[in-house]
Amino acid sequence: MKRKIKVGVIGAGRIGLYLESDKKRIKPATHFGMWLANKKTNLEYICDKNKNSYHYAKKLAPKIKYFKDHRKLLLEKPDIISISTWKDTHYKITKDSIYKGIKVIVLEKPIANNIRQAREILSLSKKKRVKIIINHRRRFDREIIKLRKKLESGIIGEILQVSSFYVYGILTTGTHLVDTLRMLLKNICGDIERVSGTFSKKNNFKPKDDVNIDGICFFKNGTKATIQNLDMKSYDNFDIYIYGTKGKILITDIGRKIIKYNVIKSLEHTGFTELNTRGRVISKGFARNQFKLLGENAVNCLLKKKTLPLCGAQDSFVDMVVIDKLIKSSKKNGKFLSIKLKN
Ligand SMILES: NC(=O)c1ccc[n+]([C@@H]2O[C@H](COP(=O)([O-])OP(=O)(O)OC[C@H]3O[C@@H](n4cnc5c(N)ncnc54)[C@H](O)[C@@H]3O)[C@@H](O)[C@H]2O)c1
Repeated sequence: MKRKIKVGVIGAGRIGLYLESDKKRIKPATHFGMWLANKKTNLEYICDKNKNSYHYAKKLAPKIKYFKDHRKLLLEKPDIISISTWKDTHYKITKDSIYKGIKVIVLEKPIANNIRQAREILSLSKKKRVKIIINHRRRFDREIIKLRKKLESGIIGEILQVSSFYVYGILTTGTHLVDTLRMLLKNICGDIERVSGTFSKKNNFKPKDDVNIDGICFFKNGTKATIQNLDMKSYDNFDIYIYGTKGKILITDIGRKIIKYNVIKSLEHTGFTELNTRGRVISKGFARNQFKLLGENAVNCLLKKKTLPLCGAQDSFVDMVVIDKLIKSSKKNGKFLSIKLKN
């Protein structure tokens, strides 16, 4: 393809556009910024119900064309679109985009508003050969990708147990944690096949339409990962502790820093070993640019038949099923529920 790839952004709110003005964030920090920065793409269209987005977008891309209705934008036949609207609109806009022949869709999480809708989007995308890339940020973080490979090659031996933490609602942020656990462990432990959850009794901060849950995810090979809720009003947190036969990995600083702890001889008991309390930093806590790899992945998905989304509709669908089962289990006081996938 010699001409530049035509791109449109539907939903120019915080993650779609405005966070580009957050001085602390590494750039690009939004879908809009991602397409402007990519040398192979031409960001030509935006759509938002609120015209204020257009006024701000014009400052960054003076020639941008604005649409209030996503169906009008789709008539322009962009090669790739980003959908970063509210979650209850993802299903309709994604479906309309698939039927209008868009071949690569970058979609904000969650894939849809419920399991039924997500299943429909998944099967439609398979039928129409559309590549949907879901923006679960750790899937586009090169340091986390490197860690996955290290875990697979046995950096801490056999995985024994995992403990992890999230804030601000199981659907809103817990979904990133479940997705990251599956990304890191699926090839080693198999997928999550059973869960148990209970509603947190603490008054931890959460969105009105979400719940805070503490739970256990059971992976196919018997590895268990606890997921526990903390209070975002006290502090943000995304710690993951992975215990193996040859050491421990801690992912901390909201996923930025990765530390490895080795096994050492006990200082007080002959013949015993323990984990060193002083770890070796294997990935420093620097801010990462997830949007760069996300944009590159989308472009390659369009240009190369064999390139697959780093986080596809199938993975996002399974994340949704896991969360749904955790909520259902919590309503039944922690009853163990199996994950059975029709797709
Ligand atoms: N991956 C991440 O790390 C991450 C971070 C933040 C938000 N998100 C997700 O991104 C999505 C948007 O979140 P946000 O914080 O940017 O919200 P936001 O409210 O700031 O922005 C959403 C924008 O979409 C527009 N919109 C809604 N429905 C529309 C429609 N039918 N047609 C056109 N425009 C429409 C709204 O006017 C608004 O400007 C949510 O699904 C959220 O879960 C993901």
